[in-house]
Amino acid sequence: MRAPYRVVVITGASSGLGAALAISYAAPETVLGLIGRNEERLAAVASACRSAGASVDSAAIDVADGPALAAWLTAFDDAHKVDLLIANAGISAGPDPETPGEPVAVTLRQIGVNLIGAVHTIAPLVPRMCERRLGQIVAIASIAAYRGLPYSPGYCASKAGLRAYAEALRPNLARCGVGVTVVCPGFFSSPMTDRWDGPTPFLTSGERAAQRIKRGIDRGAARIDFPWPLVLGMRFCDLVPAIIGDRILRDFRFHIRSA
Ligand SMILES: NC(=O)c1ccc[n+]([C@@H]2O[C@H](COP(=O)([O-])OP(=O)(O)OC[C@H]3O[C@@H](n4cnc5c(N)ncnc54)[C@H](OP(=O)(O)O)[C@@H]3O)[C@@H](O)[C@H]2O)c1
Repeated sequence: MRAPYRVVVITGASSGLGAALAISYAAPETVLGLIGRNEERLAAVASACRSAGASVDSAAIDVADGPALAAWLTAFDDAHKVDLLIANAGISAGPDPETPGEPVAVTLRQIGVNLIGAVHTIAPLVPRMCERRLGQIVAIASIAAYRGLPYSPGYCASKAGLRAYAEALRPNLARCGVGVTVVCPGFFSSPMTDRWDGPTPFLTSGERAAQRIKRGIDRGAARIDFPWPLVLGMRFCDLVPAIIGDRILRDFRFHIRSA
């Protein structure tokens, strides 16, 4: 499905990219369903969207809580038929480059939010959207989905899993008229990027990233990835023998500070 979308659900709408997308979709005759955990920041984004003329329903829900999220999503969809669903909520972490590996709990939490949380967001609405033969589902993955980076195993695993999950859904859902967009962005400014100690090649602003992603979603793109030098670099590292990819990426040292 292509724009204009009238009923838009966004997870992780209280900050960064999710907030920017919420505000860019806010317009009269648009209904927004916004999910995050921080009630204060969520309320501020909801208020900005209402000022732009949108009706807004927001809820503080942890996307890792599947039953709570499914209950909210299905009740919202009963009231307003969702035609754009954006699974954006995400967290990041990473060990200090001098520390080998990552504690199990840290890896599992990232997979629980970034991958399982996105599954909790998408799965309850798939049968409904398919039955209506209408809608677009968007998974915000990352350029890290193309090739594991050495100092963020849990994050890369969660994003590679999300990319694979959404791409696996796409051909099947296309048969019932529902589109799937996988988004693999490089670095953009946001509170998540503020916690990144290390190089951020080709960093763009959060607003520019949101505009670019919105343009792609609105034309029903199957995949949105940028910037192209980073996309090519990551895909190159995946295509060449592993030892070469490892050697190139080994020196890309960074540390993601905890939130
Ligand atoms: N920043 C980058 O350079 C970059 C690059 C590639 C991909 N991405 C991806 O883009 C997405 C947005 O990232 P961002 O940079 O905008 O980060 P951000 O500013 O930290 O925003 C993350 C959002 O996710 C929400 N969230 C986190 N955990 C949640 C949970 N368990 N349940 C519900 N909501 C939760 C946060 O809400 P609360 O704070 O209210 O919990 C917040 O609204 C993420 O999926 C990220 O992995 C970011």
